[in-house]
Amino acid sequence: MSNPRKFFVGGNWKMNGDKAAIDGIIEFMKKGPLNPNTEVVVGCPQCYLMYTRQNMPEEIGVAAQNCYKAAKGAFTGEISPAMIKDCGCHWVILGHSERRNVFGEPDQLISEKVGHALEAGLKVIPCIGEKLEERESNRTEEVVFAQLKALLPNISDWSRVVIAYEPVWAIGTGKTATPEQAQDVHAKLRHWLRENVNAEVADSCRIIYGGSVTPANCAELAKMGDIDGFLVGGASLKPDFVNIINARG
Ligand code: 13P
Repeated sequence: MSNPRKFFVGGNWKMNGDKAAIDGIIEFMKKGPLNPNTEVVVGCPQCYLMYTRQNMPEEIGVAAQNCYKAAKGAFTGEISPAMIKDCGCHWVILGHSERRNVFGEPDQLISEKVGHALEAGLKVIPCIGEKLEERESNRTEEVVFAQLKALLPNISDWSRVVIAYEPVWAIGTGKTATPEQAQDVHAKLRHWLRENVNAEVADSCRIIYGGSVTPANCAELAKMGDIDGFLVGGASLKPDFVNIINARG
């Protein structure tokens, strides 16, 4: 069965790297070769947005890893979608589990951020995912559906949204969801979109998987019908990120 959605691979550098490391990443990205059928975006620390945008090949998108829900104002330490755009970037990752769990961002704030980023013209990668104890108490669906539901009122344009499903227990742990575990949740999320948004969005919206994706496990995950790509942390800093970008042959 062929997947009609364009394969999407995001790299999330998190709070890693410096200019020299970014130069190294740019070098291996230029060398590739990258499958032209894969859409690629890298998420870099905000202080390097402009540097990365100016030096990364044009066809690779650059994302901020967070932003605030207003264009400007007295919000010390925050950046706005307008500023991200002014740096030449078109993407933002929002609601990453580290934002939710380390910095305590609630569903409502994330939803408002997604809404403002879309209104400002950015493309958005909202992240959702359950914690280990939630999975172990069979609450995975309840948790991810609630996270998705909170976003709904603020999503004005689904064509600029790529949903990242990142089970918290798989992030940075080396413990990847099996292809079947990930596919199971992705299929349920797509079904939820069908029921709660519409069939067109369910069929077209990319749902990508994140959590200890590596060159060794990406090909099996990429074969699953509802896995439309990846959001990659640690492995996106290394040259074989190219192999993950090319996971779907
Ligand atoms: P790792 O790939 O390092 O597990 O991180 C996943 C992630 O959080 C991507 O956003």
